[in-house]
Amino acid sequence: MAAITTVGILGCGLMGSGIAQVAATAGFQTVARDVSETLLEKGRAAIRKSLEKLVEKAKLEPASRDAALGRLELVTELAALRNCDLIIEAVTEDLELKNRLWRELDGLCPPSTIFASNTSSLSIAEMAAATSRADRFVGLHFFNPVPLMPLVEVVRSVRTSVETFDRAVEFSRRLGKEPIAALDRSGFIVNLLLIPYLLDAVRALEHGVASIHDIDRGMQLGCGHPMGPLTLLDFVGLDTTVRIAEIMFDEYREPRYAAPPLLRRMVAAGLHGRKSGGGFYDYSVDPPTPRDLGLAR
Ligand code: CAA
Repeated sequence: MAAITTVGILGCGLMGSGIAQVAATAGFQTVARDVSETLLEKGRAAIRKSLEKLVEKAKLEPASRDAALGRLELVTELAALRNCDLIIEAVTEDLELKNRLWRELDGLCPPSTIFASNTSSLSIAEMAAATSRADRFVGLHFFNPVPLMPLVEVVRSVRTSVETFDRAVEFSRRLGKEPIAALDRSGFIVNLLLIPYLLDAVRALEHGVASIHDIDRGMQLGCGHPMGPLTLLDFVGLDTTVRIAEIMFDEYREPRYAAPPLLRRMVAAGLHGRKSGGGFYDYSVDPPTPRDLGLAR
């Protein structure tokens, strides 16, 4: 089996751009694809900013930054990914959208190309079934911000071959990440525990247990978390969290995965978190301040 040298990334958003950055930094030829030049430009800017921060903190040599940028190609054409040894998908959590892309790539790529999804909640087996290479399909779930978080969940479906799983584990290590093995069940390991915790924090706020500030400080100072749950929700994205919660609720039918009304109303109101300028906090001011969400006093 040929070694992995060229990696394709589908989607150049928050996760895709981070994955592209770590792949290029680790020495892989990296081709990242998104649907428009505007989205690619946003991705490129995020990668440059992150690489710059790492250089500033002396965690990366300027020459390695330049080499990484030299190994990175940003494209709009899906066909540009046809010669990749591994393709990692990081588009919106929408099974239909993902499977459309997989079906097209299945026809473009040689049988040796491994397909991997960065989904955090959808079924790897269902995506694999859209292709003719279910044994070469695996989950590779990264964490935000990808350049800093050392974990990758490697997910084996009922059809993933041992060889594909082992190669995905080896690839994760070459990125400098620590892989852990997870079952193909919605949420894998981390989100199975994290999502109910985040939803409980919103329920606590909604039920008047405490303020935004105190809920966050409680978990930071009492449990040593780097971010409180409401700050973390803003960081992950409220829309993304609702989507993940819906998929997990669909899988397990347990109330703890049901997104509370406040979270749904915030998403409906366009408060999607840090990326939209606002969520539980208002990021147009420095430091960000808790928002008045119209809750009973
Ligand atoms: N690239 C490079 N460097 C970055 C960076 C990036 N994208 N973002 C932050 N940094 C650097 C900063 O420059 C800073 O460097 P120094 O410590 O050397 O000064 C350092 O990281 C810390 O940054 P900040 O001071 O701005 O903030 P912080 O101390 O709060 O750290 C954090 C930021 C690492 C993100 C930390 O808050 C943290 O670990 N938060 C929790 C993140 C988390 O839980 N992620 C998982 C989300 S769940 C998920 O992703 C899965 C899913 O499916 C939903």
